[in-house]
Amino acid sequence: MAVNVHYVVCYQQFEVSNIVNNSKPVVTIFSFQTKNFNAIIMKLTILAGIICFLVCGDALENGLARTPPMGWLAWERFRCNTDCKNDPENCISEKLFMKMADIMVSEGYLSAGYNIISLDDCWLDHNRSESGQLQADASRFPSGIKALADYVHSKGLQFGMYEDYGTLTCGGYPGILNHLETDAKTFAEWGVDYVKLDGCYADPSEMDKGYPEFGTLLNLTGRPMVYSCSWPDYQLDKGIKPNYTFIGTVCNLWRNFDDIDDSWVSVSSIIDYYGDNQDTLIPVAGPGHWNDPDMLIIGNFGLSFDQSRAQMAMWAVLASPLFMSVDLRTIRPEMKAILLNKNVIAINQDPLGVQGRRIYKKSGVEIWIKSVKPSLGPDRSAAVVFLNQRTDGTPTRVSVILRDIGLTSFFGYNVEELFDGKNLGVYRPDDSLTVTVNPSGVVMIKCTVQIEESLISEADWNEDNALF
Ligand code: GLA
Repeated sequence: MAVNVHYVVCYQQFEVSNIVNNSKPVVTIFSFQTKNFNAIIMKLTILAGIICFLVCGDALENGLARTPPMGWLAWERFRCNTDCKNDPENCISEKLFMKMADIMVSEGYLSAGYNIISLDDCWLDHNRSESGQLQADASRFPSGIKALADYVHSKGLQFGMYEDYGTLTCGGYPGILNHLETDAKTFAEWGVDYVKLDGCYADPSEMDKGYPEFGTLLNLTGRPMVYSCSWPDYQLDKGIKPNYTFIGTVCNLWRNFDDIDDSWVSVSSIIDYYGDNQDTLIPVAGPGHWNDPDMLIIGNFGLSFDQSRAQMAMWAVLASPLFMSVDLRTIRPEMKAILLNKNVIAINQDPLGVQGRRIYKKSGVEIWIKSVKPSLGPDRSAAVVFLNQRTDGTPTRVSVILRDIGLTSFFGYNVEELFDGKNLGVYRPDDSLTVTVNPSGVVMIKCTVQIEESLISEADWNEDNALF
């Protein structure tokens, strides 16, 4: 996780003039100044593991979200549309969620891994029931939330709930403050599997107490519920530095930046935030506890085909929760194919659970890398994303020597382009790999470490040896 600090940058060469003229830029990024690099890296990895054990503390032990959660969330696409009279097909209603649940199953989203369907804001009645419980708006959810959760479960999906730690949700509906115990019990009774707890109308300085308290109450119900927190986001807004180590012991995932909107500007700003803050964010992510850069907006109005691939690739390499927020009834086939791409999803769901790192950023070209299984001793497989944030029209060619991005395995790597599933062949550490990246697009590859079984004993395998 802290490997970047051991890299020594010898020289960088990425000339804008080359790119503009579309000649081949040779991007030599990182070189190492030691011959015993592998042995040193192995020792550093062990040391990093020990330090993390001592410093990171215990992870949340509800045993959930061992890989980034995947599902469908209403907010980005359907917002707070409560006008069922004029817009019955798109308003926040049980009908909408039931339809999306049907499609998630019938059109392959569930089998691709998207197994949660979640409410967001504006499902509520403005008042609690006489007995003090939260209740759904009766005209839009006539069967009630328990019935909706039962329906979702009958489809083999899990049911997600939205609430807010404060007195009101962001949309102005009742929040959970002063009702924490009742609401935790209600969620369990309804059969909730996932809780997104927002932070409007609350004091961010109280959240270090309030979010853990509610997390404990959820656990006390005995029903396993994935706990998604907006806690750090609201603290950062108020200039409070979040204690991510602690947050990771309480929440399975957490938001830390602005809401995503339907534009590349929004997606790009989130990518920048994650790159600029990676030394804080990478160490706190892992199985059971994830940074959440917000929903996938693929298939809506704002992203081109290339930008949609870029969001998918980046969310995969960041080990982000994958929550689609899109109208599954009308999504275009090519956008659906991006969301269902098994190769890219496998990188996101890789069991090592390592959040990827930006290792190069210059002249609008970025290289991101994420360690994935399998590993061979200190040599690891990796997903690499070449991201082109340039907008000057012509695709950009980028060349790297594998060794220079930390891929040093003696036996080399089998390299596969992931979106189209093209095998690019075997590359040795000193081979140069060239990709052509469209403007606001990506090329995403997986470099799988080669195994020479005749030379290597089983004992040399260490699948948990993540380096990035
Ligand atoms: C906040 C959250 C969003 C969404 C809205 C609902 O802005 O960050 O994800 O839940 O509230 O009002």
